[in-house]
Amino acid sequence: MSSIFVFDAYGTLLDVHSAIACYRNEAGPDADRLSDIWRTKQLEYSWTLTLAGQYVDFWTLTQRALDYALARVPSVDKALKPKLLDAYFTLDAFPDARTTLRALKAKGHRTAILSNGSPDMLKGAVDAARIGGDLDAVLSVDVVKMFKPRPEVYALVTDYFKCAAGDVTFVSSNRWDVMGAAAFGFRCFWINRGNMPNEYPDFPPQQILRDLNSLDFVV
Ligand code: 2OP
Repeated sequence: MSSIFVFDAYGTLLDVHSAIACYRNEAGPDADRLSDIWRTKQLEYSWTLTLAGQYVDFWTLTQRALDYALARVPSVDKALKPKLLDAYFTLDAFPDARTTLRALKAKGHRTAILSNGSPDMLKGAVDAARIGGDLDAVLSVDVVKMFKPRPEVYALVTDYFKCAAGDVTFVSSNRWDVMGAAAFGFRCFWINRGNMPNEYPDFPPQQILRDLNSLDFVV
């Protein structure tokens, strides 16, 4: 029976730290610290604005988060900003992303992305990663003007596929995203790429995997 597999984009299919990796030498020894602050602030802005009942699109937040990170890490040349943003718009996919989507489609399953990313961001990333052919849908939170982990975001999936929450398998490397999806009723796999400690014990994933390759054996 065909199942529905929904993937988070940034951090799960797409490597958010591959942007800085393109310019590691130019960025210098604080490159990874810059990238960590950039990602942390990008997410923080999405959570705080949503809690305040406000919305600013994810590409704008991504740019503002980079401005903040560059201000916090003055050793990185600010002239790198446009290059880093171009790289972020066309992030590398993790090696296991393409093979996993292809394998799921070969088995007759339906696949989608559900992401905070703005529609333009997601088109840029999906095209650059060459994964569009193995996705039935690319769903952006921009439709509901609020970010994950709001339940209205996960409802975009059940609305699109006209299915119950329990029919959806949700895959994310972001444990807070897995919390929101599990709370909504999805069956969840947490791709713990960074071997991080587990959290949110009230909303556990069905399985914790180290990468997407092992997903093929559990579905
Ligand atoms: C997403 O792609 C931000 O990783 C999160 O929705």
